[in-house]
Amino acid sequence: MKSEMEEPLMVQIQLDHHNHQSPPSSPYTFTKPKSKRTKSILLLILASVVSVAITLGLLFVFCSTLRNRGNSFRYSVVIDGGSSGTRIHVFRYWIESGKPVFDFGAENYGSLKLSPGLSSYADNPEGASVSVKELVEFAKGRVPEGMLEKSEIRLMATAGMRLLEVSVQDQILEVTRGVLRSSGFKFQDEWASVISGSDEGVYAWVVANYAIGSLGGDPLQTTGIVELGGASAQVTFVSSEVVPPEFSRTISYGNVAYEIYSHSFLHYGQDEAEEELLESLQNSVVNSTEDGIVTDPCTPKGYIFDASSRKNSSVQAAGNFTECRSATFKILEEGKDKCPYNHCSIGSTFTPDLQGKFLATENFYHTSKFFGLEEKGWLSQMISAGKSFCGEEWSKLKEKYPTTKEKYLDGYCFSSAYIISLLHDSLGFALDDERIEFANKAGEKKISLDWALGAFILNTPTSTSGYSSKSRKMLR
Ligand SMILES: *[C@@H]1O[C@H](CO)[C@@H](O)[C@H](O)[C@H]1NC(C)=O
Ligand SMILES: *[C@@H]1O[C@H](CO)[C@@H](O)[C@H](O)[C@H]1NC(C)=O
Ligand SMILES: *[C@@H]1O[C@H](CO)[C@@H](O)[C@H](O)[C@H]1NC(C)=O
Repeated sequence: MKSEMEEPLMVQIQLDHHNHQSPPSSPYTFTKPKSKRTKSILLLILASVVSVAITLGLLFVFCSTLRNRGNSFRYSVVIDGGSSGTRIHVFRYWIESGKPVFDFGAENYGSLKLSPGLSSYADNPEGASVSVKELVEFAKGRVPEGMLEKSEIRLMATAGMRLLEVSVQDQILEVTRGVLRSSGFKFQDEWASVISGSDEGVYAWVVANYAIGSLGGDPLQTTGIVELGGASAQVTFVSSEVVPPEFSRTISYGNVAYEIYSHSFLHYGQDEAEEELLESLQNSVVNSTEDGIVTDPCTPKGYIFDASSRKNSSVQAAGNFTECRSATFKILEEGKDKCPYNHCSIGSTFTPDLQGKFLATENFYHTSKFFGLEEKGWLSQMISAGKSFCGEEWSKLKEKYPTTKEKYLDGYCFSSAYIISLLHDSLGFALDDERIEFANKAGEKKISLDWALGAFILNTPTSTSGYSSKSRKMLR
């Protein structure tokens, strides 16, 4: 959008330049061109002419933009079938100079989430139709009736659905397809699917680089993404190393092809890693006291485990950041001895050397915000914050954070230690590395780093005339 506004200005500047460079062609040069006074008057006149021209030019562009937008709004809908709920995103965009213009402000973008998620209908697939119907009605409220059949609707399901058996996934998807086929929107059966974690990573990378303004530019100037979700963690960035094909994704945007390293580390999300740690603690005999009590270094002391929870009464809270960090590091190291590649940062999975800038999102962001960390040096601040949190008495923490729900509060010792194990001890970000920032929004317009926005951007042809069908099909 920026370049559209800059174009007319550039034309004016060139005219201005031209007049100075070649006075003979100017209509004002018949008087003494060498006289200083004449010259300054001349400049004054020129300046006025130029500024009037600029104003008229801008006015023209502005009016024609308004007219264009009014005539050619387009719409697109993405439904994110997440584990905790289903969220519909309704996008309005328009075409300027043959290119789509996106705007994620309230006028051009709306979303609605309904719980529970699609995966909760495993025993009753038909039940999934109710929430999808309601979401479709929301979308219809934002798209003019005449535009429905021209507007694409897609449903992409993620982690919760991935965990179900394929036959059950298919049953639930088929129910949603029934709703979408009769929705009035443009829809094809393959547009309702379960996407992979690496698809999600690539879409998140797309929206981040779009927001920053680096999508469409030099691949090596793009920004990578590290995401810490509940069930999985994703690492996505452009590497100049040779990446084994199973970790390599290619997308096209405009005329540029991006080869991206992308991997979703399943079970390394914050919740699953915490569960894994607990299991390993309960299995450890060496660290148990005579009474068979095992200590958990990732939970502040004084915390009483609910007997009904997985952290059962044989585990005793004994918060210690340093010990928690080494315990989580062990989980990340598991399988590294079997690494078949030249680098394995996490388990036996290939990860190239880090390159360029990174944004750390989702739980990286939430934990940093919880501790009130500053942008600069946030990783080393995370260590001090984690040390003091893990070492504090549970009753004191409850007093200190009265508004935080206990079920979340209890997790910040683990998450601070896990984040350091993951980003510093495993992936190798230096503690004072300024190339990595935590974020949930990016760019001047503070665009939300929601992968569904990236799915919309990538599924929208980058030019009205010739876009490669390859780039659209890349991620289904
Ligand atoms: C608590 O955990 C231990 C170790 O895994 C297990 O043997 C025991 O059955 C558990 N107790 C309850 C009440 O779940
Ligand atoms: C027991 O805990 C210590 C640290 O307190 C650690 O070094 C050791 O590896 C643990 N042993 C097992 C089997 O987890
Ligand atoms: C935490 O554990 C480390 C390593 O076992 C130990 O050196 C340190 O003293 C412990 N910190 C506290 C406050 O107990």
